[in-house]
Amino acid sequence: MSTATKVSDIKKRLSIPAFAAPMFLISGPDLVIEACKAGVIGAFPTLNARPVAVLEQWLQRITAELAAAEQENPGKIAPWAANLIVHKNNQRFEPDFELILKYRPEIVITSLGSPARVADQIHDYGGLVFSDVNSVEFAHKAAERGADGLILICEGAGGHTGFSTADEFVPQVRAFFDGPIIVGGTISTGADIRHVIDVGADFAYMGTRFIATNECQAQPAYKQMVVDSTSADVVLTPYFTGVPAHFLLPSIRAAGIDESKLADRKGQIGFSADGDEDSKDLSAWRDIWSAGKGVDRIQSILPVAELVANLREQYAKA
Ligand SMILES: Cc1cc2nc3c(=O)[nH]c(=O)nc-3n(C[C@H](O)[C@H](O)[C@H](O)COP(=O)(O)O)c2cc1C
Repeated sequence: MSTATKVSDIKKRLSIPAFAAPMFLISGPDLVIEACKAGVIGAFPTLNARPVAVLEQWLQRITAELAAAEQENPGKIAPWAANLIVHKNNQRFEPDFELILKYRPEIVITSLGSPARVADQIHDYGGLVFSDVNSVEFAHKAAERGADGLILICEGAGGHTGFSTADEFVPQVRAFFDGPIIVGGTISTGADIRHVIDVGADFAYMGTRFIATNECQAQPAYKQMVVDSTSADVVLTPYFTGVPAHFLLPSIRAAGIDESKLADRKGQIGFSADGDEDSKDLSAWRDIWSAGKGVDRIQSILPVAELVANLREQYAKA
């Protein structure tokens, strides 16, 4: 089956053309399962399941509950997607990739590196490889190295952001790439989804909006901070991970970090120690909370099903 046929089959099973994008530490099986049941592609970083034995439990639960949902509501359940960090610092790469090959998600999202490491084996079982990129240069590289779909991370995104607008980035990539294009960054409403589809994307990629849901495994205070914050509270800093990422200033202040240092590169990308529940040290993502500038249009914490129903209505109207 060609990529185009697989993508068109996936689109038919969605209620809106969107992903609940993977978020370090805070997207788990509850969010993935509810998103897929509501007709949105639910994604999670495999690293969120700790230790690796827990990943197999999550994969068993996700596949079993979605198979049951498919029985009840045939053709209306969205696929789930695994996010594999292909960066050399990810010490869980090998065991996580083995489990991906065992549970065979229809979509594998690679981030922070080249998809070449995984593409052939995912294609062998019929899966699609989508890779996130934040520049035209990286988009070219990912497409050359086996990505079937490109996730264009645009300005204002939660986590490691991009710097282009969707209006600029999508046509630049479409000029050389005819596979599926997914756009992320400040997409919080159905009208925002409509906008990226209108500029030529196939799917919207929404992270921050899904933090403020009942099923997200973020702490309640984090969800509330997303609701209470405006884009003026979202700061861009390389301080925590060594590359520019968006974090909520109130969480930085609460941690007692000197704001004048935020232009410095202190931390580096690391996934194993970060968020380790036993660690007493402050850590990015666990104690310093990330969100994108789309917080401006997030007013409430909702169950995923209700959020998706609202997005669907706004999308239809827009
Ligand atoms: C708290 C948080 C954690 C994130 N962690 C990851 C991650 O582990 N892997 C990844 O590929 N992207 C990660 N992202 C990026 C999202 O997948 C997505 O690209 C981004 O949230 C889209 O922008 P938005 O937040 O404005 O919707 C993260 C984003 C947030 C907000």
